[in-house]
Amino acid sequence: MYILGIETSCDETAAAVIKADSQTGRLRVLSNIISSQIDIHKKYGGVVPEVAAREHVLNILPVVHEALSRAKITPQKIRVIGVTKGPGLITSLITGTETVRALAYAWQKPIMDINHIEGHIYANFINPSASIKFPALILTVSGGHTILLTMNKTGKIKILGETRDDAAGEAFDKAAKMLNIGYPGGPIISRYAEKYKKSTDKNNQYLPINLPRPMINSANFDFSFSGLKTSLLYQLQKDPHWKRRIPEYCHEIQQAIISVLISKTIQAAQKTKVRTIMLSGGVSANTELRAQLAKTIKNKLTKTEFLVPELAYTTDNAAMIAAAAFYKLKQRQPISFSKLKVDAGLQLK
Ligand code: KG4
Ligand code: ZN
Repeated sequence: MYILGIETSCDETAAAVIKADSQTGRLRVLSNIISSQIDIHKKYGGVVPEVAAREHVLNILPVVHEALSRAKITPQKIRVIGVTKGPGLITSLITGTETVRALAYAWQKPIMDINHIEGHIYANFINPSASIKFPALILTVSGGHTILLTMNKTGKIKILGETRDDAAGEAFDKAAKMLNIGYPGGPIISRYAEKYKKSTDKNNQYLPINLPRPMINSANFDFSFSGLKTSLLYQLQKDPHWKRRIPEYCHEIQQAIISVLISKTIQAAQKTKVRTIMLSGGVSANTELRAQLAKTIKNKLTKTEFLVPELAYTTDNAAMIAAAAFYKLKQRQPISFSKLKVDAGLQLK
């Protein structure tokens, strides 16, 4: 069956077509179109909701058209339209849901309304090399969320812990803003950190940079990243050379965030005895997080499989929304255009 996915929860206008084999459950992405607004928002150091909303309105129909034509299918062939219902920016979400309402009415198609975070999770279900073994532990790390949860084979999830303040991606973005190196912070910090790792000239004449690993030893699976920016601020204030040491700062910021994420994930896996660990969300694009978590799992949890989404499906995209729609079809009935409601504060259930 063909599924059209649409995603507009933040600053990417995205549409994708996937082909799902109902028998084997294999998902093939036929098109995955993303119109990113990063170049527009980076002038402001973050997403400006009114600007994002206007851009979504301009982009949504061309993006849907492109997704269908790249997939070489007509609307008649679509079985269901998956769309992000929330959480996200209300003014951004509305463009997606109202467009889907109109398309579903015009094309006479049912709708699967999708939680954005579940979309990130189901990014792991696109083209996996082997079938996924359950129960699974999933670390969802994005600009808006940091959640550790388990999922059983029927798709039921249980939240083990989440951030009490800033999300991991937000910590990357805010640190990059303090260092004045651009937006979004995650990929930029990651590039500088890599540069530091590869540099042979690791100058020891400066003050050591030591950032905390917040809540790493707490007896739960919650996170807290807001203290990192305060620690970073104090370090910068007492370091007259910080502008010359950007790669080294980025390396330490990235390691502080990654160490906490990995430690909690391993502890949670040991406690829940899951068979698979998966990463999801924008921060799961981070090369060091992927590599260090893979290595730790290999050393400490020899029987546990480790899965990461392909890079194209880590940050916001619509293929993951279409994938989630396919799996949700097994759990509940799709809805009609008149029942679709946006929910900016939608919780995971
Ligand atoms: O999933 P996503 O596209 O949007 C949300 O749902 O929030 O995630 C965006 C976040 C941003 O905070 C961005 O800095 C972070 O993902 N990110 C990264 C990397 N690529 C994107 N963080 C660390 N390393 C990366 N390579
Ligand atoms: Zn996202």
